[in-house]
Order: sequence, then C-alpha cells, then structure tokens
Amino acid sequence: MTSPIRPAPDNLMAVDRERDRKAEHIALALEPRMQVSRSAFDSWVFEHCALPELDFAEIDTTCTFLGKKLQAPLLISCMTGGTGEAAHINRNLAAAAERCGVAVGVGSQRKALEDPSVAETFAVREHAPSVPILANLGAVQLNYGYGPEECQQAVDMISADALVLHLNPLQEALQPEGDLNFGNLLPKIAEVVECVTVPVIAKEVGSGLSATVGRQLANVGVSVLDCAGMGGTSWARIEAARADTHDLGELFADWGIQTPENLLQLADVPGVELIGSGGVRHGLDVAKALALGASLAGMAYPFLEPAIQSVDAVNSRIEETLKELRIAMFCSGSRHLSALRRARIERRRLP
Ligand SMILES: Cc1cc2nc3c(=O)[nH]c(=O)nc-3n(C[C@H](O)[C@H](O)[C@H](O)COP(=O)(O)O)c2cc1C
Repeated sequence: MTSPIRPAPDNLMAVDRERDRKAEHIALALEPRMQVSRSAFDSWVFEHCALPELDFAEIDTTCTFLGKKLQAPLLISCMTGGTGEAAHINRNLAAAAERCGVAVGVGSQRKALEDPSVAETFAVREHAPSVPILANLGAVQLNYGYGPEECQQAVDMISADALVLHLNPLQEALQPEGDLNFGNLLPKIAEVVECVTVPVIAKEVGSGLSATVGRQLANVGVSVLDCAGMGGTSWARIEAARADTHDLGELFADWGIQTPENLLQLADVPGVELIGSGGVRHGLDVAKALALGASLAGMAYPFLEPAIQSVDAVNSRIEETLKELRIAMFCSGSRHLSALRRARIERRRLP
C-alpha cells in the first residue's frame, strides 16, 4: 500500500484540533452525567433456575471471535488514541485484554493517518499479541478523501484482526466541527469490504443500528454488526457540552434504539455476527446481551477510568465482569455460552 497521508501545512492546525478533541472526549466521557440515566437492560430478567444441575466450576465462557479463541465473550470497545494519555490508556487496555483473553479495539485512527508521528499511540499489538485487535475509522471519512487504501493502512498500523467502521450521524451533527456529508456511503463501504484484507465490522457509537441499516450493511459484505445502542454513553451530551449547546444535547440525549431491543431487531439479519454494546455495565448485562442474540458484548465507559489508572485496574474490572457473567450462567442453568443464548429471558412486568 502507499505511504501514509501527510498533513499539508494548512492541515497542521486540524491535527492539533483533533488532539484537543480526543482529550476533551476522554475528560467529558468520564463525567457520570454523560450517561443515559437508566439502563434498558434492567427491564430484562432471566428465568431463575433453582436446579441448574451443574457444578459452578464447570461453567465455560470460552468462545471464538475472528478465528481466535477468547476466554470470554467480551470486547473492550473502541475508544482512543492520538495523545500521550491515550497511548497510556490503549496500552493498559491491551495488556489487560491479553491477560484475560478478551478482544480490544482502538479509537479512530484518522489522526494517525494525518500525522504518522502519533501512530504509535494506537499500536498495541506488542501488548496484546494473541487476542483480536480492532482497527477503527469513521465511515463518513469515506466522503472526505479516505478510501480502501487508508482503511488498509489503519489495519496494518496496528496489525489488526478486523476493521471497525463507525457510523455516527448524531455525534457528527452535534459536533462543532462535525463531518456532515453522509451521502452515498454504502457503495464506498462495499468497496472497503472488497479491498481490505480483514473482515469489516460496522458499529454505531451509542444510538444503535436498525434492522434496515443492518441488512444494508450485511448485503455489502459487512460480517459483524456492533449495535452500540442507546442506554450508555451519550454522545449527544458530550458533543453538546463541547459546543455549549446543552439544550440540544438534552433533546437528543436518548435518541436511538435501546441496546436490548436493537439486538432482537438485528437477530434476523442473515450472515452476520452480532456484538451487543451501548450501556453494558456489568457481567449480568453481558449475559443478557448474549441471551438476546449477541455473540459478544462490548463495554467502553466502564473501562475508561480503570485504564487511566493501570493494567491491574482494567484487569480487576474484567475479572469482576466475568464473575458476574458466570453467576448469571449458573443461575440460568447455562454451562456453555450456547446454553446461555437459549436461556429464558423476558421483559420485566412493571408494577
Ligand atoms: C472516551 C470514548 C471515546 C470513544 N471513541 C470512539 C472512537 O474513536 N470510535 C468508535 O467507534 N467509538 C468510540 N467510542 C464509542 C464506544 O466505542 C461505544 O460504542 C460507546 O461509548 C457506547 O458504549 P458504552 O455505553 O459502553 O460507553 C468512544 C467511547 C468513549 C467512552
């Protein structure tokens, strides 16, 4: 592939702005008020199984994702890169993912394509040699000069196992410097799927993927859909806080498809694997996401603060999550993940 895109001199300020934006995203995302207030997963309950007929020690959470074995069906969702702090966060996330045998993504690599000096802030393969690592770019960039070559560069930059293209119209619409031309993206996504050497995953960032959009993406060869539904981090609130347009942020704070419903809607899309994310906050939510149709559950916000601290802090958060998942499997009588996917789960009847 060709050499990396070099920023033109008049583009250097844009690179600086991008660094500031990423730092602001981290600072704001840490604030609890940026979360949608109530988790949609709370409305769903497993049927309790008082006679699981299995030894807790037998519970098996292993699975395969992108051809690699995982110890548990968990993804640390794409978050960051491009600054010193982001490099530290990515390192801690990747090292803990490797220790625990779960998958990990990096944040949008656009700034590393524009300024190769920051590429190393994304390059986590040495810390996570064996687990799946996901590259990341905004799909809308395919309307702003990017194409299959840049997508392949993002993959090669971090020796990724798959390329995530994120679809984020609400976020861009509220962003002061948002890229708003989402016209005619599908054929460009199709071209990327054709040309890059790894599977392509499509995700939202907190508003969900409808069944119609899921089918459109599946039809052009996207092989994994990560719904990143509504119920967790609100990018409307974060971008509105940056733009000082709080009323607009509140108006759209809960725009989108709630993650549990989104998984049910996507269940009929043929030929794709589903990742359930957006508001997944603990191992019980992971279990619910799987019972509602996901192969894997993704979490971003819950790992952000631990990642700022240390590898051990991320490690502990993953271990807690997996313990909660195992308890949910035990009490729903699910020895393996395949049994968990068939476990009885229903919407809680409100009093
Ligand atoms: C600080 C932060 C930065 C993020 N940056 C990206 C990004 O660059 N690319 C992307 O696809 N998603 C990004 N996301 C979105 C997450 O991957 C995820 O879809 C979303 O936060 C919903 O998950 P959550 O409710 O567990 O936080 C980011 C999330 C956070 C918290």
